[in-house]
Amino acid sequence: MGQYSTKPIHSVLDLGCGTGSHAIPLAKRGHKVAGVDVAEAMLTRARSKVGPGVDISFHLGDVRTVRLNQTFDAALMMFAVLGYQHENEDILAALKTARSHLHDDGVFVFDVWYGPAVLNLRPSDRVKVIPVGDGRLIRAASGELDVQRNLCKVSYHLWHLVGDRLVNETEETHLMRYFFAQDLQLFCALSGLKLVHLSAFPSLDQTPDEQSWNIFGVATAASLFPQR
Ligand SMILES: C[S@@+](CC[C@H](N)C(=O)[O-])C[C@H]1O[C@@H](n2cnc3c(N)ncnc32)[C@H](O)[C@@H]1O
Repeated sequence: MGQYSTKPIHSVLDLGCGTGSHAIPLAKRGHKVAGVDVAEAMLTRARSKVGPGVDISFHLGDVRTVRLNQTFDAALMMFAVLGYQHENEDILAALKTARSHLHDDGVFVFDVWYGPAVLNLRPSDRVKVIPVGDGRLIRAASGELDVQRNLCKVSYHLWHLVGDRLVNETEETHLMRYFFAQDLQLFCALSGLKLVHLSAFPSLDQTPDEQSWNIFGVATAASLFPQR
């Protein structure tokens, strides 16, 4: 992200930080990091993962409304945080939060699901076996599209097995917004941001296409008071 900033990046705001998968490694690399999440359980896990000597301020808050009254060199919404904001108003509010916490030369970095790929590949029923410490998780996923609202509902059914013994069974549903290049550009512009990079994710040198389910974007802070 540094290549899009005119200044070195020292401070980072991780919006929708979850359990700190980005916040903690960034802080360990010497960045000054703050994280915000709406789920207290996520923040509790994140705090428990922070090792000694690593200083991160975690805040309970909604990315659409939170105001920390600080500015940062970079703001992040990684692993589809923007997709959890479903309506246009939610997306604009979240992007305005990112903008309002950036210095005038700051950068905003995010990834989202890409509409052309979601409509081309469509969510299909999938089963994945994930090894975990004492056994394995079997995850069955199924998805449903709402093409009027650019939303994809993904339902997960998880079984935790140790040997042949079922130790836990859970179900989760995630509703995700998917995006197109033109609407991201407009959402950014309406929020005081300028979209300067869009690529496949994690293949950042690849132009997004109908196979790129996940895309990665960088926006710079545009002036909130454009010169005439
Ligand atoms: C898939 S996780 C990504 C976590 C983290 N960004 C990472 O890279 O590991 C999505 C996170 O976004 C958070 N989230 C979703 N909507 C939010 C909102 N409106 N305000 C704050 N956090 C939100 C969820 O609680 C969850 O922790």
